[in-house]
Amino acid sequence: MSDIACIGVYTSGGDAPGMNACIRAVTRRALVAGKEVVGITRGYAGMIEGEFVRMDRQFVSNIIQRGGTILKSGRSAKFRTTAGRAKAADNLRDAGIDALVAIGGDGTLQGATMLAEEHGIVVVGCPGTIDNDLFGTDETIGFDTAINTALESIDKIRDTADAHERLFLIEVMGRDSGFIALACGIGAGAELIVIPEELDDIERIKGRLAELMSQQHRSSIVVVAEGPGLNGAQTIAQALPADERFQNLDLRVTVLGHVQRGGSPTARDRVLATRFGVAAVETLLEGQANIMVGLVDGRIERIPIAEVWSRRKEIDQGALELARVVS
Ligand code: F6P
Repeated sequence: MSDIACIGVYTSGGDAPGMNACIRAVTRRALVAGKEVVGITRGYAGMIEGEFVRMDRQFVSNIIQRGGTILKSGRSAKFRTTAGRAKAADNLRDAGIDALVAIGGDGTLQGATMLAEEHGIVVVGCPGTIDNDLFGTDETIGFDTAINTALESIDKIRDTADAHERLFLIEVMGRDSGFIALACGIGAGAELIVIPEELDDIERIKGRLAELMSQQHRSSIVVVAEGPGLNGAQTIAQALPADERFQNLDLRVTVLGHVQRGGSPTARDRVLATRFGVAAVETLLEGQANIMVGLVDGRIERIPIAEVWSRRKEIDQGALELARVVS
C-alpha cells in the first residue's frame, strides 16, 4: 500500500470526449479510498501557475456526458523548459500533492515522465486522445466518439457526392497517424483511404486515385488522414490539376477539423474512461508509479509510461487489408 494522501489530476494536450468521465472516475475512486483530490487546470500551464482546485463528489457530478474537459487543457511552451518543470514540481509539493494522474496523449505522458525523472514525482497516465496513436493500449479515450462524429459527416457528404457524381477528399484528424482515417474509412465504405503509415508519396497517391477513377465509380469518397506531410487533403488536391489524368475531375475537399474533438462521449468512451480512471487510482494505491494504464484485448494492463511515448503504435495491417478488399 502507498502513503499517498493527496492525488492531483489534470488533462493536457488536445482534449478528447470522455476526459470528463475519466476525471470523475479518478476523483470518486480516490475519495472512496479516503484520499484528497486536487484538480490542476489548463494542464502543465496551470501546474506552473499553481492553478489548483479541491475536488469533491459534487464537483464531478453531471459531467460524465460532457465533451471537452472541465479542467481545461492546453500545450505549454514554458513546461518544455527546465525552469518551467522545476516551478511545476515546486508548486505540486507546496500544495501537498503526492501523486499525479495525467490524462492525455503522448506529449502529456512525456511531460509526466519528465516530472517523474527530474523531480521524483509519482505519476500514472490515462491514455486520452482522439488519435488513438498511443503504444500500449488498443484504444484511447475519445477515439470512439471522434470516429462516430466523423462518420456521421462522411455519410452526409456521400449523399451529395452521389447526387453530383463527384469525388470528395475528406480530411480527418490524426496528427501523425491514420487510426481515425482507417476506422472511419472502413465504416463509411470509402473507396480509398490515405494514411501516412501506408501512402506517403504523392505519385503513389495519384496512382491510386487514377486507378480509382478508371473503375468507373460515379462518385467516390476518399478519406485522408491529416498526417504530417503529403497526406493533407488540400496538398493532394493541389497536386492534381497539373496531371493530365485528373483534368476532368469534379473534385471537392472537406476538412472535418475540430468538430471531431467535440461532443458528448459515446457509451464506449464513457465506460473506457471510467475504467482507466479507476485503474489509475488503484495503481497508485498499490504503490506503483510511472505507469500508463491501457486496454489490451479487453483487459486493463499497466505499462511503463516512458515506453508509451518512446515507441510507435503500429497500424493494424489486417484492418488495412480489410479496407482494400471491400473498397
Ligand atoms: O492530437 C489530437 C489532435 O486533434 C490531432 O488529431 C490534431 O493534429 C491536433 O490535435 C490539433 O491540435 P490543435 O487543436 O492544437 O490545433
